[in-house]
Amino acid sequence: MGYSPWYLPTVVGDSQLRLARSLGRAVTRRLGYSAGATLLDVGCGRGGPTVELVERFGFDAVGVDLVPHNVRTARGNAEQTDRTADFCVGDALSLPVTTDSVDACVVVDAAQYVSDTAALFSELTRVTRPGGVVAVSDLVRTDPDASEAALATFADAWDMAVPQPTAALRADARRAGLVDIETRSITAGSVARFRRWADLFLAAVGTPLGHVAERALSREGIDLDAVVEQVAATRPALDAVGHAVLVGRVR
Ligand SMILES: C[S@@+](CC[C@H](N)C(=O)[O-])C[C@H]1O[C@@H](n2cnc3c(N)ncnc32)[C@H](O)[C@@H]1O
Repeated sequence: MGYSPWYLPTVVGDSQLRLARSLGRAVTRRLGYSAGATLLDVGCGRGGPTVELVERFGFDAVGVDLVPHNVRTARGNAEQTDRTADFCVGDALSLPVTTDSVDACVVVDAAQYVSDTAALFSELTRVTRPGGVVAVSDLVRTDPDASEAALATFADAWDMAVPQPTAALRADARRAGLVDIETRSITAGSVARFRRWADLFLAAVGTPLGHVAERALSREGIDLDAVVEQVAATRPALDAVGHAVLVGRVR
């Protein structure tokens, strides 16, 4: 959210919006309040979820992202809204934030870019005060027998870490000091939808419908061949990839 000038929340961004809201609700439920609670949105991208968390829940939010261009865009996007969020450049593994200083941290679909989830959870629990809440969405491996090569190709195509099972994520979170950990699958609303979309897309390539898509993508400066290559590289692993949310309280 916040990436595309033709972003339509109800069409392409709906599931991401619902994800941001569901993390906001999870944090609110655990904290017992949201208005004025300090919240760090780690890997905030171009700020769509951060702004949503401020506007809908009243969090006092700061978004942090590794990519300066994203942070600049997030600031610009936030200026269009009534209530503001702050943004800064920073690494999820070395956050520019004092120890025990925030009430909550959320990571909305950025954890999959961090291969060392143990280090990620350690950093999240360092900056979140005792009793505070950490809520993370991440891609997970759902099939222990899945092809390692397919998963590696998937990760490479998206510049991501190879997904690990939810149990491994929980173990890293627990070792970092999270308690009352809950995990739930949100695969049906995201990866499963992408799976169906990928099948339709790959079937349409080379047909008249594909040519329409090609023209639309090229108007946006996107090369259809590169998209086809990425989706095709992704598809074999998709049956073994899920999407999960983990929420816990800092001990
Ligand atoms: C898929 S985007 C999600 C952005 C945003 N949370 C959203 O849902 O719209 C992942 C973001 O994570 C950021 N990211 C990746 N690795 C990071 C790291 N080590 N520290 C901070 N941000 C990171 C990327 O720059 C990117 O903006």
